[in-house]
Formats: sequence, C-alpha cells, structure tokens
Amino acid sequence: MNPSEQRPDAHDEALRDRPKRERRARRAGPGASSDGARSPIRPRAPRLGFDGVRRHWFAGSRAATQVANGVNLLFPAGERFFIRSVRHYLDRVSPEVAAQVRGFFGQEGRHAQAHERLFDTLREQGFDVDSILERYEHVAYDYIEKAAPRPLRLAVTVALEHFTAILAEDALTAGVLTHADPEIRRLLEWHAVEELEHKAVAFDVLQEVAPSYALRVLGMAVATMTLGGFWLWATRELLAQDGSSLLEARRDLAELRELAAREGESRVMEPVAGRVFLRGIREYLRPGFHPTDRDHSALIAATLARLEEEGVVVGDKSAEVPS
Ligand SMILES: [Fe+2]
Ligand SMILES: [Fe+2]
Repeated sequence: MNPSEQRPDAHDEALRDRPKRERRARRAGPGASSDGARSPIRPRAPRLGFDGVRRHWFAGSRAATQVANGVNLLFPAGERFFIRSVRHYLDRVSPEVAAQVRGFFGQEGRHAQAHERLFDTLREQGFDVDSILERYEHVAYDYIEKAAPRPLRLAVTVALEHFTAILAEDALTAGVLTHADPEIRRLLEWHAVEELEHKAVAFDVLQEVAPSYALRVLGMAVATMTLGGFWLWATRELLAQDGSSLLEARRDLAELRELAAREGESRVMEPVAGRVFLRGIREYLRPGFHPTDRDHSALIAATLARLEEEGVVVGDKSAEVPS
C-alpha cells in the first residue's frame, strides 16, 4: 500500500508508537536493530581439540595456569545453574526476551560441554579434578542453591553473568590470552564472544520478573562471595595437587607481573580482584546500569572473524546449531 493511502488511524498509531519504539531501541542499546529488538543469539559448535595441551599452559607458569584452571572448573556446573535459574521464569517473560533466552541456553550448554572436554586433559595430566568438582557442586548446588529463593537464584545468575562479561571483555582486550596455549586461547575466545553476545539476557529476565534494586544488589553480594570463594578454593586445591600453595603462587604472580611490566604489558596479569571484582561491583551498583551500556559489537565481530579464519567457527548459517 502507498503510504499516502494508509488509514488515518494506522498512521496515528504509528506516530503514537514512535517514541515507544525509540525508547525501546535506546534501552536495547548497541547490537539492537532499529525497532529495538536485539540481534538473535545463536549457539555455535566450535572445532576444538585439547590433545597436546601442556601442564602449565598459561605463560609457562604454574600459578597463572592454576588460577585459570580454577575458574574453568567452576564454569560447567555454574552455567547449568544459570540455565536452571532462568528457565524457571521462561513462561513469564515477553516473547522477545524468551527468544533471547533460548539462544542463551544453547550457548551456555555448549560452553559447559566444551570446558568439560578440557577437564579430560587435566585428568590425563594427573589432576584429581573430580574430587574438586564433587565438593564444589555439593556445597554450591545441593546446599546454597537449594537454600536460596528463586528470585535470588536469578539475581545471582545476573550478577555472575556481569562478571563473566567483564572477564570476557578483559580476555579479548588485555592481551592476556597471547600467553595461553593456542587451543585454550581459541576455547576462551569463542566462549568470551558468546558471553558478550548474551550478556544482557539474564538481566532482562530479572528486569521483567523481579525489577527490584535491592534484590539485584543482594544477588551481587552472594555472587561475589560465591565466585570469589570457590575460585580461590579451587585454585588452592589445584596448586596443592601441583606441589604448590596460594602463598607461593602469589609470589610467582608478582614476579610475572613485574616481568610483564618491564616488557610494556602493564595490564597483563594484573590482580583479578581489581580487574574483575571491583570493576564489576562498581558498574553494577549504578542504579541505571544495563549490560548493553558498553558496546562490544566491534569486539565481537573482530574476534569472530579471527575465529572463522582459524577454522574454529564457521561463518555461514549452516554452522549454527539449534539450541
Ligand atoms: Fe558461558
Ligand atoms: Fe553467560
């Protein structure tokens, strides 16, 4: 139909809805289309193999490797917890958010599987990862998760997703991964890209079903204590299995940082407490915070292009897998 032939009431409706659409687009932030809808979230099946990964795969350093292995051990069960927390609310969210949630489930499920494949390599290297996983999962999911009311589980998920988005941005921009085993670098880059793609999904669910600032802050408090506590504990366990300790690792990391600073890589190996936790909390506590406040679209596109070139992900739609 020619626009001039449009029914007057349809035209009025379109005009009336324009500010609403513009507000939605602004709220949806970078990565959103002009009608305010976000880009679809598509899980990918990466091509990765971890044969030949060295025991100290990160900067040749026992301390740096076990700090990284420590958080990696938390990912799969953590990501399944995110899925459970969000799934509970799936039938209460708008269709736009529900579509994003399905993509989020697909991506997180694949991250968990890929990281579990890396656990097999750690087992082959002689690490008893299963005893660490059993104790972590028992305390975190049999006790803490069960004791927490559903809205708090969701708020904790949202805060942890904010931390993972910061970790992801950091991994892709600080140059840290140049010191990692190439295949683990690819794993973490693929994971980081998808974390940035779905960084707002859990937040949007919380905004729709329980938009309380107090709940958001409580979720952040629990997320900081649990992520920080389990990460430190898992690192300590791995270091002990590797003949070291947290104290010794602290000294080793200080030496690595000095070396990196001398070589002009001042951001590499900076303490995780400031880089991730303090920054994450500071951003998150701002009442008007939204995960899309920071535009990661160029970073996502550049990293995906590199991963496509390396054959880790395939660019065309045939590589996309259903969630
Ligand atoms: Fe993930
Ligand atoms: Fe995530």
